[in-house]
Amino acid sequence: MSLKIIEFGSPSYQKMVDLRFQILRNPLGLTFDQADLDKEKDDILIGFFEDDDLEGCCILTPDNKTIIRLRQMAVVSGLQGKGIGRVIMNFAENVARDRGYKMLHMHARKSAVGFYQKLGYEIIGDEFEEVTIPHYEMQKAL
Ligand SMILES: CC(C)(COP(=O)(O)OP(=O)(O)OC[C@H]1O[C@@H](n2cnc3c(N)ncnc32)[C@H](O)[C@@H]1OP(=O)(O)O)[C@@H](O)C(=O)NCCC(=O)NCCS
Repeated sequence: MSLKIIEFGSPSYQKMVDLRFQILRNPLGLTFDQADLDKEKDDILIGFFEDDDLEGCCILTPDNKTIIRLRQMAVVSGLQGKGIGRVIMNFAENVARDRGYKMLHMHARKSAVGFYQKLGYEIIGDEFEEVTIPHYEMQKAL
């Protein structure tokens, strides 16, 4: 197992886009827009690998110098519930902390709220809809 920062546009990045499509977009009948992907070039792209296989990923996008947002958190469907998500989140939090961020937040799918709560995140505000499904804003001080 290894955790890596993925370079935008690299072969690993293509694996990441494929995983995100499979887990997060395709089940909702959605695709990726190249213009949206291009906006990720300065984001922190994180991958969980077993040998060369990408088994999970997430993205950190800075809002400003102290607040950073988690996006596109996904684990391969057959491997969910085995602790990979927790390992990725711990790594992402450490990377964010090391770079000086004080607060991590995300738009959490309602179905994943329990996962983030286990990791110490709290719900802020009311339910809202994004990518056609209910979400909550959640956050944690780093
Ligand atoms: C949500 C997701 C990233 C979690 O990763 P994972 O590897 O399955 O989670 P882990 O096995 O590390 O779980 C850590 C803890 O959270 C719990 N948990 C995991 N997913 C959960 C969920 N959807 N709801 C409630 N609790 C959850 C686990 O039971 C575990 O609890 P424990 O420590 O008491 O045993 C993953 O299941 C996934 O990719 N889901 C589909 C895509 C998705 O919803 N992404 C999030 C978008 S906001």
